[in-house]
Amino acid sequence: MRLVLLGPPGAGKGTQANQLSQHWQIVHISTGDLFRYHLAHNTELGQSAKEYMQSGRLVPDNITEAMLKDRIAQPDVLESQGFVLDGFPRTVPQGLALDALLAARHERLDRVVLIEVPTDALVQRLVGRRTCSVCKANYHVQYHPPHVEGICDLCGGSLIQRDDDQLETVKVRLAVYHEETEPLVSFYRQAGLLATVDGNQDPVSVTAATIQAVKGGSHD
Ligand code: AP5
Ligand code: MG
Repeated sequence: MRLVLLGPPGAGKGTQANQLSQHWQIVHISTGDLFRYHLAHNTELGQSAKEYMQSGRLVPDNITEAMLKDRIAQPDVLESQGFVLDGFPRTVPQGLALDALLAARHERLDRVVLIEVPTDALVQRLVGRRTCSVCKANYHVQYHPPHVEGICDLCGGSLIQRDDDQLETVKVRLAVYHEETEPLVSFYRQAGLLATVDGNQDPVSVTAATIQAVKGGSHD
């Protein structure tokens, strides 16, 4: 199963990708998480991505595509039943690059799921999000608080707020989504791959709707 999750910042791509990777036993690949790993380890790639991420803009396509190409060639991806991409592609050129990468492996995407959520809900989700500094699990101060404030339920790590979850940066990320990523919606609709899911419901219902959509239930 080869899936792409498409949707604005805060739509729940990471939350749902976790569930889908468990459901289908496939690898969850988040380009945002990969960049944050490089940033935290101060690698050359992290240094090139830093100023883009902190300001809420997209890292240039050539850097992002090279990172993704490297990731999908790793043994865990090659040995698994597929992957769920979370945050890639994010521009039409990235979509074309992904097609080419997969075609070279005689593979293709099975489905692209667009998770739709109204803008005001996205903003609330992002400014209230907290992430475990160790295992990267996501929480929300209102919708999904940890049992003990500031501490991850799963691993006991401390919870932090992402730098790009400040309100001003969130606004930039939303504008960038509309300008640069939304054209992928018609790109994938034309390719006959797009399914749309209402992401403005509880996470368990969103997972059920996404699985249904992937199986062919609600094809756009
Ligand atoms: P990235 O990390 O991909 O961020 P994003 O797309 O802005 O998306 P988020 O991770 O913020 O949101 P999400 O949709 O994963 O939602 P989540 O599940 O966390 O990218 C960060 C940066 O990296 C980019 O700005 C760019 O600079 C760079 N980058 C990454 N990929 C790139 C690419 N391909 N090209 C160029 N640059 C790239 O949920 C959000 C919150 O809501 C959480 O608190 C969660 O608990 C809560 N929540 C989730 N679902 C629900 C629900 N159903 N109801 C209520 N609350 C919910
Ligand atoms: Mg995410």
